[in-house]
Amino acid sequence: MNDGLDTPGSVSFSHVTFTYKADAPRVLDDICLDIEAGQFVAVLGANGSGKSTLAKHINALLVPTSGQVTVGGLDTRDEASVFAIREGAGMVFQNPDNQAVASVVRDDVAFGPENLGLAPDEIRTWVDEALSTVAMSDRALDEVESLSGGQKQRIAIAGVLAMRPRILILDEPGAMLDARGRRGITRVAHELNDAGMTVVLITHFMEDALGADRVVVLEGGRIALEGTPEEVFTDSRALRALRLELPFSIQLAEDLRARGLEVGMGLSEDRLEEELCQLLSNR
Ligand SMILES: Nc1ncnc2c1ncn2[C@@H]1O[C@H](COP(=O)(O)OP(=O)(O)O)[C@@H](O)[C@H]1O
Ligand SMILES: [Mg+2]
Repeated sequence: MNDGLDTPGSVSFSHVTFTYKADAPRVLDDICLDIEAGQFVAVLGANGSGKSTLAKHINALLVPTSGQVTVGGLDTRDEASVFAIREGAGMVFQNPDNQAVASVVRDDVAFGPENLGLAPDEIRTWVDEALSTVAMSDRALDEVESLSGGQKQRIAIAGVLAMRPRILILDEPGAMLDARGRRGITRVAHELNDAGMTVVLITHFMEDALGADRVVVLEGGRIALEGTPEEVFTDSRALRALRLELPFSIQLAEDLRARGLEVGMGLSEDRLEEELCQLLSNR
C-alpha cells in the first residue's frame, strides 16, 4: 500500500485533519494524498480552501492535529526528522517582496546553503548552479530590490534550489505577478520536474495546472476532485460547482466542440492551437 512512499522526494498524507485552534473548524479534513517522487502535482482551490495549510504540512511548518504526514518516509511529527524534512522540501511563498533575507542577490541565495553548514566553495557552486537554473546568473551582484516581481520570485526559487531539495513546494508563486512572470515561474518548475524534482504547485490559475501529472482540487479542507488534468478539467460541471473557472483553452475547446469542431479534451493552449491548425489545413 505504501509503495515507493519511503523514497526521498515522496510525500504521503494519511487521514490528515488540522485545526489552527482547539474547537475551531477543521481547515484540513481527512486528507489522504500520496505523491510519488518525481511527480508534478498542482493543488487548486478557492481562497480559504486550505491550500497553504496543506503546503505547510509538507515541510513540517505545520503538523497534523490527527493523522500522519510523511516526507520521504519521515514523520513530520517526529522532532528528530524536522531538519532533514526541511532540507529536503523547500517552499516558495506567494509574495516575492517578503522573502529576501539579504540585499544582494548572491548573498540572498546563499542564505540556505550557509545554514546547512557547507564549505564556502561548495556554497558558491550550489548558488551559481541555482542562479543559472532560474536564468538569473547575470544578476548575481545586483540588489534584490532592483528586480521585478517575477525576478524576485525566481531568486526565491534559487534560494530554495541552492539547498538542493528533492521536493519543491510553490505556494501561489505567481499570485503577485503578471502573466509573463507567472509563465516564467511555471516553466522553471517544469524544468526542475523534468530533472527529477517532485513539484507541488499551489495555484488558483487553472492554466498553471494543465501541465501537471496530477491535479488535486481542495474545497473546505477536503479533496473535492482529483485526477489527471484531462480528467479534472473535462469535469466542467464539477469545476463550476466548486466555483473554479475553466482554463481558457478548455473553455474554448468546449465551445468549439459544441459547435461541431472535433478538437480534443483537456488541452493546453499550445496543443489546442496545433489541433486547430491541423483542422484548418485539412479543409
Ligand atoms: N494562522 C492561522 N490561524 C487561524 N486560521 C487560519 C490561519 N491561517 C489560515 N487560517 C484559516 O484556515 C483556512 C484555510 O486557509 P489557507 O490554508 O490559507 O487557505 P488557502 O491557501 O486555500 O487560501 C481559512 O479559513 C483561513 O482563515
Ligand atoms: Mg494560500
